[in-house]
Amino acid sequence: MAFDTGKRTQTPLLKRGGAFFRQWMLFARQFARHPGMVGSVIPSSPALVDAMLEQVDWASTRLFVEYGPGMGTFTRTVLERMRPDATLLAIDLNPDFVGWLKREIHDPRLHVVEGSAADVRRFMAGCGHQAADYILSGLPFSTLPRGVGEAIASETAAALRPGGEFLVYQYSAFVRPLLEPRFADVQDRIVWMNIPPARIFRATRTAALAQAA
Ligand SMILES: C[S@@+](CC[C@H](N)C(=O)[O-])C[C@H]1O[C@@H](n2cnc3c(N)ncnc32)[C@H](O)[C@@H]1O
Repeated sequence: MAFDTGKRTQTPLLKRGGAFFRQWMLFARQFARHPGMVGSVIPSSPALVDAMLEQVDWASTRLFVEYGPGMGTFTRTVLERMRPDATLLAIDLNPDFVGWLKREIHDPRLHVVEGSAADVRRFMAGCGHQAADYILSGLPFSTLPRGVGEAIASETAAALRPGGEFLVYQYSAFVRPLLEPRFADVQDRIVWMNIPPARIFRATRTAALAQAA
């Protein structure tokens, strides 16, 4: 459910669809240059963005982290739904995407950094946070260099607050074995309205330590 700021409204589906097709060519060019890093030839669909973000409790979210924002397909909608006093930290390895996001999206709540998601805790500390409420990943886990997926999954579990959630979309179940040993609960389902249809995972960090205390 969206957090009602009283100022921002949801972008109409048609307008978001138009932006989606305008970005298609730019995104495809990056895929042609860096296929393993970008992992998909077109950005995610508005239906996938909605399916991922409807899982978020916006009212309690103070730090939202996004891995692999690309051209901001999720970033803009996260900002629309986020509290006015929350922070969105977006981390991308591709300097062209980082430059594009910095030029195109102006919101004081957004921090865009160039680097690897494996360094998430260092980037969080850089913007004054110790723990994230949600981390959303658009990373192509199946084509990342050997060992990088494992490192990112471990760092993500350490970066989330107890009970925090790692939300992942993928085109296969490749990521599940990376999530299961590190998270208390892993759920997944398929979103058909995307090219190709996507599998979305919701991995919850254990809250056991807080309960045992
Ligand atoms: C499939 S694209 C997702 C783009 C966008 N979120 C979307 O859904 O349309 C994957 C993104 O992950 C980024 N990426 C790849 N490896 C990364 C890493 N280790 N750390 C951060 N970003 C990475 C790529 O540069 C690219 O922007």
